[in-house]
Amino acid sequence: VGVPHPASRLVALALKPDCIQCLQCLPILSAVYNTYLKYHFVSAFWKEVADDFFWKKPATGPMLQYNFDVTIGNIYVKCMEGAKTNMCYNVLDRLVRERNLGEKVAYYWEGNSPDHHMAITYSQLLSQVCRCANVLKKMGVKKGDRVSIYLPMIPELVYTMLACARIGAVHSIVFAGFSSESLCERIMDAQSSVLVTADGVYRGEKLINLKQIADEALEKCREIVTKCLIVKHHALRTKSGAASNIMTDFMSGICSLFWCVQTPWDSECDVWWEEVMRDSPEECEPEWLDAEDPLFILYTSGSTGKPKGVLHTVAGYLLYTSLTFKYVFDHHHDDVYWCTADIGWITGHSYITYGPLANGATSVLFEGIPVHPHVGRFWEIIEKYKVTKFYTAPTAIRLLMKYGREPLYDLSSLRILGTVGEPINPEAWQWYHEAVGKGRCPVVDTFWQTETVKHSYLTLNPHLIFQTFPFFGVEPTILNEHGEELEGEAEGYLVFRRPWPGIMRTVYRNHERFENSYFKKFPGFYVTGDGCRRDKDGYYWITGRTDDMLNVSGHLMSTAEVEAALTEHPAVAEAAVVSRPHKVKGECLYCFVSLKDSREFTHTLVEELKRLVREKIGPIATPDFIQNAPALPKTRSGKIMRRILRQIARNEKDLGDLSTLADPKVVEELFSQRCEAA
Ligand code: WTA
Repeated sequence: VGVPHPASRLVALALKPDCIQCLQCLPILSAVYNTYLKYHFVSAFWKEVADDFFWKKPATGPMLQYNFDVTIGNIYVKCMEGAKTNMCYNVLDRLVRERNLGEKVAYYWEGNSPDHHMAITYSQLLSQVCRCANVLKKMGVKKGDRVSIYLPMIPELVYTMLACARIGAVHSIVFAGFSSESLCERIMDAQSSVLVTADGVYRGEKLINLKQIADEALEKCREIVTKCLIVKHHALRTKSGAASNIMTDFMSGICSLFWCVQTPWDSECDVWWEEVMRDSPEECEPEWLDAEDPLFILYTSGSTGKPKGVLHTVAGYLLYTSLTFKYVFDHHHDDVYWCTADIGWITGHSYITYGPLANGATSVLFEGIPVHPHVGRFWEIIEKYKVTKFYTAPTAIRLLMKYGREPLYDLSSLRILGTVGEPINPEAWQWYHEAVGKGRCPVVDTFWQTETVKHSYLTLNPHLIFQTFPFFGVEPTILNEHGEELEGEAEGYLVFRRPWPGIMRTVYRNHERFENSYFKKFPGFYVTGDGCRRDKDGYYWITGRTDDMLNVSGHLMSTAEVEAALTEHPAVAEAAVVSRPHKVKGECLYCFVSLKDSREFTHTLVEELKRLVREKIGPIATPDFIQNAPALPKTRSGKIMRRILRQIARNEKDLGDLSTLADPKVVEELFSQRCEAA
């Protein structure tokens, strides 16, 4: 078509084979590509995006200023300096007041049990958020203060985060599957004055006593947290999902009453949500914030073990989440969109709360799990709400393909399918595309990170299984170990050459760690920590983490974090953790433990260690395998050779060069004791 690569490639790939004969759509495709180039490279474009939103004061500086090179000076990114705005105003008031969307459904909340559901309109959402904002203000929360949120996937989670955004408080959401220790660590780091949690929640058949976990966490940070706001969720709204009848309803009423009465209570600190919300006013003037004021902190695993408080700011995050949502999911006014992630992770922050709301979308907010009360639950929900855009993770796809219940439901409403969190294997992609999308829905594979907030790559072509073009403003490149840029077909470190509005600004209270983690290794670039391959056609394939990080069911965790938990056991002298492929989770944890003298490796010890990791980090980090390691393979300088442990875990016998090992005999012994089954 006479346009240089990669334009010609985009056009060619967007055509189906039988299109080649007519080619009538070529002008359209060329126009699409030219628009892509404009959006991608013309920075004035960001100004156009910003024009869609409300600014109390316009920007005085350029759309984007930055330094990405540690050798020149401090790393910084600034977007729309001088502007004043409010995130909550933009995602709620603007739509209710200026766009007349008050009566539109913002969320269909679907509980753990199919019996529990409700629709929340934009004006209802606005009024709940304002009430909650007033409650927080009354508790003394001011602009810049941190509020920790430890809630399940219930509407109050969205109310609280938006209430924080409204009054300029910085929310720090902790996934409600994390342990009390993880919660405590995050509260302490953020120095949050308020914690918002719930009495309890059912996940599937399992009742989780959130208040008790929160109390355990607060024991160590009482002097920081002055108020704990507790949603009466379990007592009022939940049950495991067993069929309802008068008797079970009566029994569940009695249980709820009992649950409330027996909830441990600290009258100095604890406050029931329902009681304070009842009389709270429905009007709350938004706090007008600087474009670069913090919006939230979200903790992500760091390779040294201690989680990093990734900080995002108001204006850049607003522009980027709204724009990525709009284009990646081709948003239309009448869509029903469903992202199955938990808001406790970045996917939920960006693509359940802020991105969809900024576009006035209608979303499903789902509290439960894919296999409860039956393995067709996801498909049932798609049928029930006529979901048009569906965004999930490869781990969920792999789990559901095992059951193959999707033919029992009407999935004809679906138009676009999305995936995120980890590399998607061809088998899962194929099934998603054919069985769920019936071969007619494009699969959008979105690669991104807590730090980058947005989709860096996406696939819009239904016949390809890999990521294609970077999103507007994103300039990736591939480097070798020496930091040299690789041209053409190549494999190496994935880095970004320049920022975009929604990239993280710092690690909370530790800017040095931010610079060390992302910018030191290759000056001038943001280092993702992922490996990447560029094929002969110029397309990028993510190959997985290059650092000591694991990706279990799409959740990133560091080996150091798990090793630290294991070595807390009095019997363990040393531990090393690697990943092993897992059919559903993608990767699972395979742990090698060296015991202290005279300690015996028993089944009970294995169970104790698994429990310890669950307690320290949370159920997502539970090891699948724990192997006895009389010694670990180390270099002469004492560094554990994880490459070898990874190969042992995977039973790969061809270990290559072992000459750097201090004692090569160790390897044989570890092979002889390896775990076959979990
Ligand atoms: C991995 C989740 C391949 C990657 C949004 C990244 C992916 C880490 C993909 C970030 C994908 C995420 N294909 N790998 N589509 N999406 N990853 O911060 O290793 O929880 O660095 O953000 O997940 O995980 P995080």
